[in-house]
Amino acid sequence: MAKKALITGITGQDGSYLAEHLLSLGYEVYGLIRRNSITENQQSRLDSIAPLIHTEYGDVSDVSTIDRVMMRVRPDEVYNLAAQSHVRISFDVPQYTAQTNALGALNVLESTRAHSPGAHFYQASSSEMFGNSVDPDGKQRETTRMVPVSPYGCAKLFAFNIVRNYRRSYNLFASNGILFNHESPRRASNFVTSKIIKNAVLISRGKLDKLELGNLDSQRDWGHSKDYVRAMHLILQHTEPDDFVISTGQTHSIREFCEIVFQKLGLDYRKYVVQNPKYMRPEELRFLCGDCSKAKATLHWTPTYTFDSMIDEMIRQWSDKPT
Ligand code: GDD
Repeated sequence: MAKKALITGITGQDGSYLAEHLLSLGYEVYGLIRRNSITENQQSRLDSIAPLIHTEYGDVSDVSTIDRVMMRVRPDEVYNLAAQSHVRISFDVPQYTAQTNALGALNVLESTRAHSPGAHFYQASSSEMFGNSVDPDGKQRETTRMVPVSPYGCAKLFAFNIVRNYRRSYNLFASNGILFNHESPRRASNFVTSKIIKNAVLISRGKLDKLELGNLDSQRDWGHSKDYVRAMHLILQHTEPDDFVISTGQTHSIREFCEIVFQKLGLDYRKYVVQNPKYMRPEELRFLCGDCSKAKATLHWTPTYTFDSMIDEMIRQWSDKPT
């Protein structure tokens, strides 16, 4: 019989790639969709697989829907990807962020414990939980201290810890993927990579003359979402529940990212990129570079995209859009 997977946050970048990956492996895929007043675009990332998956309206803050879906589906695997995923916006909506990212995760976990206790549970944990902690070798790994610097990171840290607590207290197969930044053509354009690429393409067409950004000096370890959803699945196939860093081990500043993207389009970023304090964060996570040796050794996970091939794919996608 086909395995059943329930994905919260299925309409997002990772949710949609994960659904495609699980379908390719023969899973029956169920997804929770948060109702939005603008239906257009809301499920656009699922367009190509819509007839193949089962979706249901729900919200991780609404326990009754989670319980109902969990009881009906009784999934073999639960992937909790639902979140308010924007770090800067979490400073504007801290309580909503905590409700969704912290209590929402607990609601899904508790519902899994109550109604599908044999299910393997995946929590979308984040490198934002590390804050500005870095090991002496310049990396973050599973053992690095976690001292988050945003409401988003604080909420994610609660979810990370409650997953570990449930694992030990109730013997649940509950695991955390500590994912570093991951991008793709499906990345929303208010995250920095998509924002830079989208606007650089517009500038190259003469449709725009400036790109306003916040902090250009922070550094991120950027991988590709398609590679990272494969890791999510592998984490749940492991012999025991555990926590894994998923990253590339390479880091670049926002400034370098601009330089590379504009160069690929035949432009000098210094002529177009300006700073606007509006995009700065009250507290910034300055540097991320993940050591994913544990995932490589234990799960035999390796990324297939390079930094360059990821950027090229994103540039192609934004260049193909009519303006
Ligand atoms: N979004 C945005 N917009 N970021 C900017 C801008 C801008 O105009 N200008 C500079 N930045 C800087 C931010 O200050 C940050 O240092 C960096 O670009 C990356 O910002 P985002 O792309 O918004 O990602 P993030 O690192 O804050 O969070 C992402 O990665 C986390 C994993 O570490 C998100 O995907 C989170 O959901 C994820 O958990």
